[in-house]
Amino acid sequence: AAVRFIEEQWADIEDNGPPEMSQVLRYFMHRKTEAEDADISEVSAAPQDKRRGRQQKGGTRGDDRNDATVRLEFEKLRQKKAYTDILVARKRLPAFAAQENFLNVLGKNRCMVVVGETGCGKTTQLPQFVLDSLILAGHGSEVSIIVTQPRRLSALGVAARVSAERLEDGSVGYAIRGESKQSSRTKLLFCTTGVALRRLGSGDKLQNVTHIIVDEVHERSVDGDLLLLELKMLLQNNKKLKVILMSATINHEVFIKYFNDAPLLTISGFTHPVKDRYLEDYLPSLPYRPSGKGVKRPSEKEREALVSQADNTDESLLLALHVISKADRVDVELIAALVKHITESNTNPGGILIFLPGVQEIQACLNALKSVPNAKALPLHANLSSDEQRAVFAPTPGWKIIAATNVAETSITIDDVIYVIDSGKVKEAQYDPENGLTKLEEQWVTRAAARQRRGRAGRTKPGICYKLYTRKQESNMQPFPIPEIKRVALESVALSVKVTHGDVKDFVSQAIDPPAMSALDHALAVLDELGAISPEGNLTPMGQYLAMLPVDLRLGKMLVLGAIFQCLGPILTAAAIMSSKSLFVSPMDKREEASQARAKFATGNSDILTDLNAYDECARLREKGTSRVRAFCEENFISTSTIRDITSLRQEFLSTLISLNLIPRGSTPSSPSLNTHSSRTGLVKAVILAGLWPRVARVVLPKDAIKFDRVQAGTVQRANEAREYKFFDIRVGDQGGRVFLHPSSVLFRSAEWKSPFVAFFQKQQTTKLWLRDATEVPIYAILLFGGPVAVKHVAGGLTIGNKDAFVKLRAWPRIGVLVNQLRRLLDAQLK
Ligand code: CDP
Ligand code: MG
Repeated sequence: AAVRFIEEQWADIEDNGPPEMSQVLRYFMHRKTEAEDADISEVSAAPQDKRRGRQQKGGTRGDDRNDATVRLEFEKLRQKKAYTDILVARKRLPAFAAQENFLNVLGKNRCMVVVGETGCGKTTQLPQFVLDSLILAGHGSEVSIIVTQPRRLSALGVAARVSAERLEDGSVGYAIRGESKQSSRTKLLFCTTGVALRRLGSGDKLQNVTHIIVDEVHERSVDGDLLLLELKMLLQNNKKLKVILMSATINHEVFIKYFNDAPLLTISGFTHPVKDRYLEDYLPSLPYRPSGKGVKRPSEKEREALVSQADNTDESLLLALHVISKADRVDVELIAALVKHITESNTNPGGILIFLPGVQEIQACLNALKSVPNAKALPLHANLSSDEQRAVFAPTPGWKIIAATNVAETSITIDDVIYVIDSGKVKEAQYDPENGLTKLEEQWVTRAAARQRRGRAGRTKPGICYKLYTRKQESNMQPFPIPEIKRVALESVALSVKVTHGDVKDFVSQAIDPPAMSALDHALAVLDELGAISPEGNLTPMGQYLAMLPVDLRLGKMLVLGAIFQCLGPILTAAAIMSSKSLFVSPMDKREEASQARAKFATGNSDILTDLNAYDECARLREKGTSRVRAFCEENFISTSTIRDITSLRQEFLSTLISLNLIPRGSTPSSPSLNTHSSRTGLVKAVILAGLWPRVARVVLPKDAIKFDRVQAGTVQRANEAREYKFFDIRVGDQGGRVFLHPSSVLFRSAEWKSPFVAFFQKQQTTKLWLRDATEVPIYAILLFGGPVAVKHVAGGLTIGNKDAFVKLRAWPRIGVLVNQLRRLLDAQLK
């Protein structure tokens, strides 16, 4: 009946509705009328099947050996020379001295907390202690230990290490998103916190698991906090499970309290003394004078502020502080000078570990260090492949310099580090509840993190920690990190809790540090806007899918709709572009050239489609060889590493959609069946909008009335100055807040507007509130995909000086009914 209803309206839409709307509807209709009933029931079975498939088996299920065999095989392993050789080294770790004590406490308790300095052997040794003791006690066939790691990389890394310590006997496995290695013999499974959380979320009560060890709990990630919450609940029902929390020595008292005074085991370390050198201590004697290209000398007022940060009036120090505070990046010249100072004044080469906020800084730093003699400089961050990562552990004859992000702070240990250089900065997600956006922001580390960084220097002998900040600045740092759950957008969290526990607020309010209830209200409102829950708060079919897609909800929605509307190829790329770093680079000294290069690809009044265009061009060139691609990228200011990221993300998204049965197995991004309508820009934009809504701004040209008439007529002349376009964020209240189109947007130069609405993914607050990526979207796409308020907003937008089109629209009350019908049909399709 629903289909017939739309069919009946069809003629009216074709006759009176503007072309974009009929375009969108036509595709939808086309698909619906073709669909057989059988197809629909097949589709409706899909999510259920999927859920069952997602329940991973417990590590030990089906071990065909009995306790005695497992024990015998372990005893044979212990006889092997390779094993005993490694054991000698293992025994030197402080964790070994605590073995007996640890097993004692664990034997008497269901939950315990272990703290110890990084590198003392918590991650690699304690799980083995549990395993070995149970095998020897004759419980080898049933033991199943899960160890969670905050990052994919550490899960892979420690699994490999522990597996090597056990001579690859098959007892160690891993599971990260999209990749796992485990068998019926796996007893020790290293997985990411996210994997464990999803496993619990899918209803697995861990019946077959004997121990779950949650590592790095001090990091206080959202996933970590939620996992602790789940485990706290689970401990009440699952009477067999034991829980071990492992933490660096940072604020661990909160965990003890949260788990009802769980016993604490402290592993005392063997760290060597580390000397501290603050900026004021070493800078005046360095052969370095800050250049800070483009930075003005401090004004008198600024100088006063600097003096108060330094307790010192040394001019070179003040100038350095000034440059550091003005530069948008860490001063790599200072770091280079420091490294040279270290390598020149010490005859015995060793390891130098530099903590930097991000990958860009790491790259810049490695460049600046190229000229250091007898040294090998290496990057270390989470985006490297595991091979590239492993390079930092390899011994080098000369100086080993590692430029790292905070992954080297607690989860990765490099033994031969003697010097640490701490930039004092870290990039962290910051959530702005005002506009509901999350930004990655560089900021000062906490004192707890600075202490961890410093500790990396004293692993094998006494070390020195050089800090790129003053004592005074350190004393102003926050003592501990704010738990992530209080700093990020919570809509994904709210959605997964909705699926598993129903009442979001009731559940989340029991977390260690519950987020503000207003943040959860906001998250639920966003889920409603996205159509993931109904206004009454019930999960919708779209919500079911989004909960299973491990991507940003907005991008997830785009992907689902892209599959349904058969324009998936471009949507895969668009979603990948939005989750990657910017495709076009814009070097400070070549801004204009860079932006002209990008303008060549401009299409569809859309930054996303422009980037997509450039990406496709690269993909075409790839067939002609990688050197062609490289030259092309260089010439056009395109980042090859972003190209790679987009390619692998596209593939990842595709596999997820396949695993959810939304598209056939064996599909590729260019499969014809996924791309029937890919060349329809209007439809692609409509799907992008459907995901981004309500991140939409209305364009208000300088002289509203005239320009809007022209917009309706199909084109509009470029206003005198593009920057005079006003953009109103239509979400903030009725009036909307004023936002600005960033000059880097291709729309900034656009001469032709077909619609007064742009959708965007991110807003960025610097001097103004900027829209960096904008896509002009058809009005009727907004009406169809923009949710109920869209009608009001669109109407509001069009009343300004509008003549014909809006009159027609207002006389068309059926639009509301149509929108609802479309929704129901989409729901039916997803069910
Ligand atoms: O977890 P925690 O920081 O307490 O230490 P761990 O990760 O168990 O590491 C203990 C020791 O194993 C480190 O000090 C390293 O010497 C060594 N290790 C390694 O060489 N390679 C790895 N992939 C992991 C650990
Ligand atoms: Mg560890």
